[in-house]
Amino acid sequence: MFDVQSIRKDFPIFSQNENPFIFLDSASTTQKPQSVIDAVSSYYDSYAANIHRALYAIGEKATDEYEGVRKKVKEFLNVPDTHSVIFTRSTTESLNLVAYAWGQKFLNSDSEILLSEMEHHSNLVPWQLVAQKTKTSLKFISLTNDGTLDLEPIDSLFSRRTKLMSVGHQSNVFGTVNSIEMLIAEAKNVGVVTVIDGAQAVPHMQVDITKLDCDFYAFSGHKMVGPTGVGVLIGRTDLLEEMDPFMGGGEMIDTVTLEKSTWNRVPWKFEAGTPNIAQVIGLGAAIDYLKNVGMEKIHAHEKELLDYGLDVLSLNKEITLFGNADNRGAVIPFNVKNIHPHDLAKFLDTDGICIRAGHHCAQPIMNHLGVTATARASFYLYNAKNDIDALAESIEKTARIFA
Ligand SMILES: Cc1ncc(COP(=O)(O)O)c(C=O)c1O
Repeated sequence: MFDVQSIRKDFPIFSQNENPFIFLDSASTTQKPQSVIDAVSSYYDSYAANIHRALYAIGEKATDEYEGVRKKVKEFLNVPDTHSVIFTRSTTESLNLVAYAWGQKFLNSDSEILLSEMEHHSNLVPWQLVAQKTKTSLKFISLTNDGTLDLEPIDSLFSRRTKLMSVGHQSNVFGTVNSIEMLIAEAKNVGVVTVIDGAQAVPHMQVDITKLDCDFYAFSGHKMVGPTGVGVLIGRTDLLEEMDPFMGGGEMIDTVTLEKSTWNRVPWKFEAGTPNIAQVIGLGAAIDYLKNVGMEKIHAHEKELLDYGLDVLSLNKEITLFGNADNRGAVIPFNVKNIHPHDLAKFLDTDGICIRAGHHCAQPIMNHLGVTATARASFYLYNAKNDIDALAESIEKTARIFA
């Protein structure tokens, strides 16, 4: 039994706002349960110390807690090896790490990177930058009008020159869950390195890295009830060993002379400087929280909200819904006739409803749809059907004002 009301009690923000507070923007960032807030503040309250170097008790505790989260990530996502788990600041940093540290070393003017037209700017711009530097070409899997990827015929996507593919697991605009298992298998068949942007997937479904068998997988803590400022890159250890460091500084070295340095082992080779210790510890608490509720239950609850949301919003003939994938997460992009999405978002806010409006860091998708922006409602474990009723009512009210 999934009890939304009791889940909401775990998130202080819902009780601290007396006015209506309906949060429908979890694809952007999520609210935090008390257990995550407590985990972050208890580091600062009672054992704030640097990790891997302090020779006193609180330093050892901080190190144990931080390294313990690596094991939690490994277990949560069934990662084959703890050394594959690198802590970064965000999905964006994780993808940049691969683009720079792998791309600059192994791409050249005879290579091609395969992306899709559905990517978030974070999985597009780093590849554009590395492609310019290495004179590599970019190729894109086409987007269909349903908000899915055109994968037919799949072998035509790869050429002799394709060296790397980077694709999103779940779209932040349409919610589409892409057939990445198929894409990864096909890429591996032809020796292409595979990178998956899992920012919108890890928070909402049970992801199994061993089964997926991709080379790199990236996600962010703040989209999965964890703190901002922490992300993860999971990488195949043999590839990580071959790569040059992404950033230089403390912690990532083995020996340093004035002229040159040698590198620490993986994953620490990629964690230069003092990391976001409290945020990593908070990510551990977020994983505990999600595991405790159950990823399958969260996924089923979101599916119910998505179906209900699509039913309710499609009753309003002034609303255009975008995307129509069979396999889809709880994200609904839409526009309302004659109302700019920014105006809509501002009017909904007066009823205490938070939605996203804009290009969603996916301008190529907006170009494909022929719009400059859309509104977007996205749901998570703390949303209930009456949040969607309130959204529909507030849209109708706004439409009456604009009429
Ligand atoms: C699909 C996708 N990829 C990447 C990102 C970037 O995440 P972050 O801002 O946490 O780096 C986002 C954030 O919205 C996203 O939705």
